[in-house]
Amino acid sequence: MLRCQWPATMTPISSVPAAAVGLRMPKPATRPAARPSMSSGVAPLVCSSVALTQSRWRARSMAWAPGMKGSTLGSLRISSSASASAASNCVKQTSPAAKLIRPPARCHDSRPTGKSIAKLGLSMSGTAATASSNLDSFSIVDAQGDVLHTADGRTLIDLFTAHGTVWLGHRHPDVRDALQRQLDKVWITGGYATPMVQEMRAAMNGFLPEGYLLASLASTGMEANEQALRIARTLTARNGAVGFAGAMHGKSFFTAALGWDNGDGLAIPQVHRVPCGRGVDEAQTLAEAGVRLRRGGIAAIFVEPVHATSFGWEGGPVFYQALSALAAQHGALLVYDEVLTGFHRTGPSFCFLQHGVRPDIIVFGKACGNGFPVAGVAVRDGIAIAPRMLLGSTFSNNALAAAAVKATLSCLRALEPEARVRAIESTVQQQLLPALAEGPIVLSGKGAMWILTFPTAEQAAACARAVLGAGVCIGFHNRQLRLLPPVTIAPANLRLACQKIAECCMLVS
Ligand SMILES: Cc1ncc(COP(=O)(O)O)c(C=O)c1O
Repeated sequence: MLRCQWPATMTPISSVPAAAVGLRMPKPATRPAARPSMSSGVAPLVCSSVALTQSRWRARSMAWAPGMKGSTLGSLRISSSASASAASNCVKQTSPAAKLIRPPARCHDSRPTGKSIAKLGLSMSGTAATASSNLDSFSIVDAQGDVLHTADGRTLIDLFTAHGTVWLGHRHPDVRDALQRQLDKVWITGGYATPMVQEMRAAMNGFLPEGYLLASLASTGMEANEQALRIARTLTARNGAVGFAGAMHGKSFFTAALGWDNGDGLAIPQVHRVPCGRGVDEAQTLAEAGVRLRRGGIAAIFVEPVHATSFGWEGGPVFYQALSALAAQHGALLVYDEVLTGFHRTGPSFCFLQHGVRPDIIVFGKACGNGFPVAGVAVRDGIAIAPRMLLGSTFSNNALAAAAVKATLSCLRALEPEARVRAIESTVQQQLLPALAEGPIVLSGKGAMWILTFPTAEQAAACARAVLGAGVCIGFHNRQLRLLPPVTIAPANLRLACQKIAECCMLVS
């Protein structure tokens, strides 16, 4: 099996000639000077030997949208001049960062940091450069707040947060305590009433934008989207759905067919995936959606408000308003999948508020239980939910999940999340945009959700590896790195993590 082998003796990247590792050095005149690292003044970057499986790369690339052009709201586009020849010198991505996460082996009884790593007396220099950095061998034994600790003694600032689930930071004490209290009462009742589910329902209804009510909890975002489809199908007595290429809604047969098929290429006749994203005109996307709606039989249109798995694409408000009008005109329900964008990730409680629309159904997940596996569906208050509209799966609406959701909502309320998200947005932009100027890497996103798109998957993987080696955990897939910092991240840690990312981007671009 081909695996990416790291040299027995690790060499700081700064002491390796750039050409020797296939990296193009930044032009001194146009790039800021390298910033000192947090504790040692030396960026602990490492580089690997080469083990590229070209066919595997090609297979991965095919699962993603083809080449991008143009820019979207909140994104910076810089023309690509990167050489494809870099591919042969870059490292192979052996696994998505998701595989790096392991349950913590031990827990401390301490609060989330809210402090910088430096203040905690932790160091992420040195060890990051000298420990094994094969992604498959990377094991996290402890996580707290915005930092992760690995089995081999490294400390990482977490901008991955397990796909954006740990929004309040790892092991948030209030969520943990709420779960602990519920563990001592009742875990699951299979749908029989519990006080905790009722309390959570009240809390969720208080959190949702005016005019929306919780329909049901589910266990995953994918299940919640299936739930939304069932509600729409029951209400409209239709079977079809419209989705948009590049949107992620989950990995079940239906949800994958909607927008992002995870490479399996399967299709369902009643599910219509409309071309969408960079390189596709919004008017064309709208026209294609209109054609599908006019043919009839469409129960719902599914929207991911920011395509966080596909280059951070987001349409303009007019696009979403036109879509909403189309849905209403043809008697279809508008479903907003806020699994990633919900709970203030882009600023307001839900991203649809920025689009000036009122979806019929909101799907949420990820952040709502701060890492506890829970998701859910809310509906416009004119929609009456009958039991036959719900999936009623075994674990839905269990009391433990409800305790996690209720505690997460209560913490969020106390945090002033919108101000925090604004501060995160401005730090990310201030730290990354100057470093990316005149380079080929594109930064897209908003709030606490950012995507870096590279000219090639090999460059993205090389950068991801360097970023991990520099002590920052990020998500990556194919040509993209994704940054999903927790809303509670210490400003100094965010700044430091962004500095490291900027340095790594400059090395691979
Ligand atoms: C927008 C969106 N919807 C749905 C899902 C699926 O959620 P889950 O993985 O919990 O099934 C995801 C997962 O990444 C997502 O980003």
